[in-house]
Amino acid sequence: MEYKHYFHNSYRNPVCRSWHSTATLKDTNLVFPVFITNEAGEKTEITSMPGNFRYGYERIVEELRPLVEKKGAHLQAVMLFGVMKDEEKDRKGLSFAKSPVLKALPLLKTAFPSLLLCVDICLCAYTTHGHCGALFKDGSINLKKSQKRISDMALLFAQIGADVICPSDMMDGRIYYIKQKLISQELHMPIMSYSTKFQSGFYGPFRDAAQSAPSFGDRAAYQLPPSGRELGIRAALRDVEEGADFVMVKPAMPYLDLIRDLKNTVNVPIACYHVSGEFAMIYHAAKAGALDLKRAVLESITGFMRAGATVIITYFTPQLLDWLNENN
Ligand code: PBG
Ligand code: ZN
Repeated sequence: MEYKHYFHNSYRNPVCRSWHSTATLKDTNLVFPVFITNEAGEKTEITSMPGNFRYGYERIVEELRPLVEKKGAHLQAVMLFGVMKDEEKDRKGLSFAKSPVLKALPLLKTAFPSLLLCVDICLCAYTTHGHCGALFKDGSINLKKSQKRISDMALLFAQIGADVICPSDMMDGRIYYIKQKLISQELHMPIMSYSTKFQSGFYGPFRDAAQSAPSFGDRAAYQLPPSGRELGIRAALRDVEEGADFVMVKPAMPYLDLIRDLKNTVNVPIACYHVSGEFAMIYHAAKAGALDLKRAVLESITGFMRAGATVIITYFTPQLLDWLNENN
């Protein structure tokens, strides 16, 4: 039998360790998404996500330092996204080998040895067509090639020093192929599967940030239909079976029922992704004076934890760290 579950992988690291308990919010529950480019010193604000930036792979270290070195609650984990220029991309997405994330990983590891480095694994930021997998000529998904290419990408990012491998592409079977490749190289980092990921209207600002919108069609062939409760549960069960150490519900606010469903059926820690459109919604409502930012964000996070999530991926991480410290 191919051995798929090394339990140590999912609790060896102190941040991952905390994901196994359901206490109140701590800094180790928060994962901050960051966008990295190949322009070493770049800093460009993302217009649809005020206060969030695309940073060059060198600049990211100094930009994160104040968060990592905060007294008290401080930054414990990041989710890294590569952003490529159109002319750097290719049809197959093999430009992942030139991802700025590969340059940032060693710099971040050296500067912040205890910061948990989660990496998003997907082809959409690297393909000229912007789809998450490999395509046949007619534009439909080529599953075999997708599985191979995405597991190659995961292996490369693991070899360069990622701490958690997070495939977001939704190609069937990718967890199995990634796991096999990692085990064959004796790489024992955990996999966080974007297992329960819905085709959503809330990803707009992200696609703007990552310049990863599909150039034709949509993602209905691989992302789950928003009404698909059973599909969402089955996808998480399947991914754990294939070797995922953590599973995810995405987006978060419209899918609290799925967080609770997974909590009740899948015996691994549950992550939720409070996505870009959810960020924008709360940000703009607060800016317009319609609601209080701190109360709205804290109430949302409380909802995620109450539903059963212990890993919260959110663009509000910097503010949440400050609010955690105010209470001490
Ligand atoms: C890419 C990916 C997406 C997000 C994370 N990884 C967008 C998509 O599937 O189009 C969305 C995150 C967000 O909206 O904050 N596979
Ligand atoms: Zn994608």
